[in-house]
Amino acid sequence: MSGIDKKLTDKESGSLTKGKKKQKKEDAWRPVGPRDPFAMLDSLPEKKQQEIQKALHLFSLGPTLPKTMQQAIRHNYRFWETQPVPRLGDNITTHGPIIAEGEGSFRKEPYSLPSDFCWDVLDLRSAPVLRELCSLLNENYMEDDDNTIRFDFSLEYIQWALQPPNCLAQWHLGVRVESNKKLVGFIAAVPADLRIYETEKRVVQVTFLCVHKKLRLKRMSPVLIQELTRRVNQQGLCQAVYTAGIVLPTPLSSCRHWHRPLNTRKLMELNYPGLRQSMNLQRALKFNRLPEVTKTRGLRPMTKQDAPGIHSLLQTSLCNFHLSPLFSLQEVEHWLLPRENVIDTYVVEGEDGMLTDVVSFYSNTFKVLNHPVHTGLRAAHLLYVASTATELVDLMEDTLVIAKAKGFDIFSALDVMDNKRFLENLKFSISDRNVHYYLYNWKCPNMSPDKVGLVLPI
Ligand SMILES: CC(C)(COP(=O)(O)OP(=O)(O)OC[C@H]1O[C@@H](n2cnc3c(N)ncnc32)[C@H](O)[C@@H]1OP(=O)(O)O)[C@@H](O)C(=O)NCCC(=O)NCCS
Repeated sequence: MSGIDKKLTDKESGSLTKGKKKQKKEDAWRPVGPRDPFAMLDSLPEKKQQEIQKALHLFSLGPTLPKTMQQAIRHNYRFWETQPVPRLGDNITTHGPIIAEGEGSFRKEPYSLPSDFCWDVLDLRSAPVLRELCSLLNENYMEDDDNTIRFDFSLEYIQWALQPPNCLAQWHLGVRVESNKKLVGFIAAVPADLRIYETEKRVVQVTFLCVHKKLRLKRMSPVLIQELTRRVNQQGLCQAVYTAGIVLPTPLSSCRHWHRPLNTRKLMELNYPGLRQSMNLQRALKFNRLPEVTKTRGLRPMTKQDAPGIHSLLQTSLCNFHLSPLFSLQEVEHWLLPRENVIDTYVVEGEDGMLTDVVSFYSNTFKVLNHPVHTGLRAAHLLYVASTATELVDLMEDTLVIAKAKGFDIFSALDVMDNKRFLENLKFSISDRNVHYYLYNWKCPNMSPDKVGLVLPI
């Protein structure tokens, strides 16, 4: 990677003289303007700040990242063009790394930050550190464009998402302000074994890239990504998988979110995007009505003893896809064993005691801003489902019944795996939110969503 490192340093900093370069670096992430506009903004009441943010979103003339392939073709990817990822428009027919192992020597020193900032490894076993990370994410990891709902990650959720077996602390990477140690940037990687077509690879899953709102568009992300890459390379891993809603070079697969209302009345009151606008409340309630109880015999919550059975069900089912995780038993336990308000998993046990089906969903909570009645929203997201005895559509209908009974307002699923077999049947509607899958330092032909067998929770 050293060649790439150098190219990137040259490209990212241009041909400035040393003095100017230093000055520029030091000023790089400073807010601009004669008076500190952020201090002015901070002095306003929270409600006023939100109104201003909403207006800025609506009328923003600032640069936005490509959401479609057409926009992507015209975009100048200053950073991504320097990285070992396939070029947009390339028709890839081969399989393998872009930079072969051993071809580049890895950089030993950390990437440098502007002088007011420092790197910090976040120790997620510490509750105060976890709380800081939650605050950064909850205040800055915005979900919608008009800022009416925000993520409300819990400490338990972050622990689940970022501390699977064999996770490494140095891959929970933060950027802090040197003077007051405020956390302003974060990125994480967790290890995973993947099957990519016929190749089995130890990779990292990269998630939770987040930069404080006040430091946006200052190119902190490329530095976070490079420093994380360096730390991953140090452990001998050279590939990563990640997802994003924007188009970067180059999607391996482009999938869609689908939503199924569970609490129709509340979603209508919230004007939740994607609901069938043409329906009045009565019709929508009738349309989305679900059975009161589940109908699959033997359906029950997963226990620790079910891990081996689930492991073999998933192994068999996931090998039908071109991109899928190769879970260890410990990983099945970590990712699927129920944790309240984090992850739910149900199994179907046949009369002979064998497990025949499994379905799991994780939970995202949101804060609703400025609504007279509602303050929060709970979404369930399908993680994995594998069925050998129960019809997929019946198992999923029961899953919706369970999620509704557990107080979730909406159920989401991607159109990956065999999910298309139940999405329309069970009255999910397609949203305009894409999830693009990417591989770092690996090229292979792209694949349709139904060949993707991997879900990365956020
Ligand atoms: C995503 C986020 C960190 C980008 O920060 P930013 O200040 O807009 O962008 P920066 O100036 O730091 O960096 C820009 C570079 O990062 C890249 N980038 C932006 N978002 C990215 C993403 N999600 N994944 C990978 N690269 C990304 C851009 O393409 C650009 O590189 P380019 O010149 O090659 O096009 C920031 O918008 C954020 O924190 N958003 C909320 C959380 C979020 O959506 N995270 C991503 C989830 S997938």
